[in-house]
Amino acid sequence: MRQTRTQVAIVGAGPAGLMLGHLLHLHGIDSVIVENRTQEYVIERVRAGVLEQGTVDLMREVGVGDRLEREGLRHSGVYIAFNGQRHHIDMEELTGGRAITVYGQNEVVKDLIDARVATGRPLHFDARGVAVHDIDGERPRVMFRLAEEEQELTCDFIAGCDGFHGICRPAIPLAQLQTYEREYPFAWLGILANAPPSSDELVYSLHERGFALFSMRSPRVTRLYLQCATDEDIDNWPDDRIWPELKTRLRTADGWEPIEGSITQKGITPMRSFVAEPMRYGRLFLAGDAAHIVPPTGAKGLNLAMADVWRLGSALAAHYRDGDGRGLDTYSDRGVRRTWRAQRFSWWMTSMLHRSDSTNPFDHRRQIAELDYLISSRAAMTSLAENYVGTQFD
Ligand code: FAD
Ligand code: PHB
Repeated sequence: MRQTRTQVAIVGAGPAGLMLGHLLHLHGIDSVIVENRTQEYVIERVRAGVLEQGTVDLMREVGVGDRLEREGLRHSGVYIAFNGQRHHIDMEELTGGRAITVYGQNEVVKDLIDARVATGRPLHFDARGVAVHDIDGERPRVMFRLAEEEQELTCDFIAGCDGFHGICRPAIPLAQLQTYEREYPFAWLGILANAPPSSDELVYSLHERGFALFSMRSPRVTRLYLQCATDEDIDNWPDDRIWPELKTRLRTADGWEPIEGSITQKGITPMRSFVAEPMRYGRLFLAGDAAHIVPPTGAKGLNLAMADVWRLGSALAAHYRDGDGRGLDTYSDRGVRRTWRAQRFSWWMTSMLHRSDSTNPFDHRRQIAELDYLISSRAAMTSLAENYVGTQFD
């Protein structure tokens, strides 16, 4: 068995784990990142696309923002569509200059892997049988196999950045963890298409047939979603069914509709809200999807993960530099507060914009009234804008 030691063992090389590794590197703290998938898989996984201002600022500040600066699409507003009309919300004007940037999560991951490789610090892909031990003791350990060789990694702290289905959260005794969960009675069918965006900004639409979202990745690639059933079979959605459905739900009376193109990727995403509290047990700290899941309607998942590791990185730096444990002691409380703010916003966006199965027409009329209020009240638009662009990392 090969035995190694580090200061912080990071489980998972998604955006949270990779960014944490980079932050620790800048503070001169050793880490080892252990990921159970291959590098190709981690990079190819198509997920989020909207970066909050705080995420963009963080990437720039820590020196991984060059490509984001060149290729990211800065959006100062967003469209909300219903009853055949698109309504523009000028987020930049409403928030005193804050905006979002469209830049695919896989591009973020690519940039962070390049930065990690450049530091020469360990990043192990394709690790098998990853398990954490002694998380409540002085010397926690991570066990795994690399190319059939058993590895024992001893450390001061473990960062559980291994997503919702990871092994870190389940390692915490059940009695020590409070969880809150809500599953939604619908899912999203998402596509990536070789088609130029026909709108300069995202369009969130509530239609009688259900929610649809127009988004993009670049001047040549669009990303679109439509609300579907939770048990939807992707095989029932050939390309020539997807486009008419998207157009029906997104088309507005001024003639706007998405431009069609060849579909290069499709998948179904379940919708869930989940919170685990606290985000710390002993020397194990949970960050990102390992601790919380939001439905994607508010575009908060990736951004919450970044806010977590920003807090954790600063707290670990204060611990190692000054022996100051206050950041680590408050890591969970501060994170839980931000998480619930994002949960509320994501739930609100989701419930305002999705068709429920309810046969009672009251619900649909209430949603229209909510949207009508939103686009006619500066206060309501400001509330959406400041939550959507995101508050400062705290
Ligand atoms: P992840 O990105 O999940 O990274 C966790 C990493 O840990 C993965 O690389 C995983 O392979 C690894 N791992 C898991 N188990 C182990 C183990 N046992 N040992 C070692 N490594 C392990 N958000 C949006 O804002 N908009 C979207 O459109 C959107 N779409 C999504 C679609 C899907 C299908 C999913 C699952 C999520 C989506 N999200 C979206 C949410 C967003 O992508 C996540 O919030 C974000 O990826 C969180 O980053 P993370 O690093 O915490 O977790
Ligand atoms: C995306 O572009 O993938 C995207 C955009 C906005 C969301 C969710 C996903 O709310």
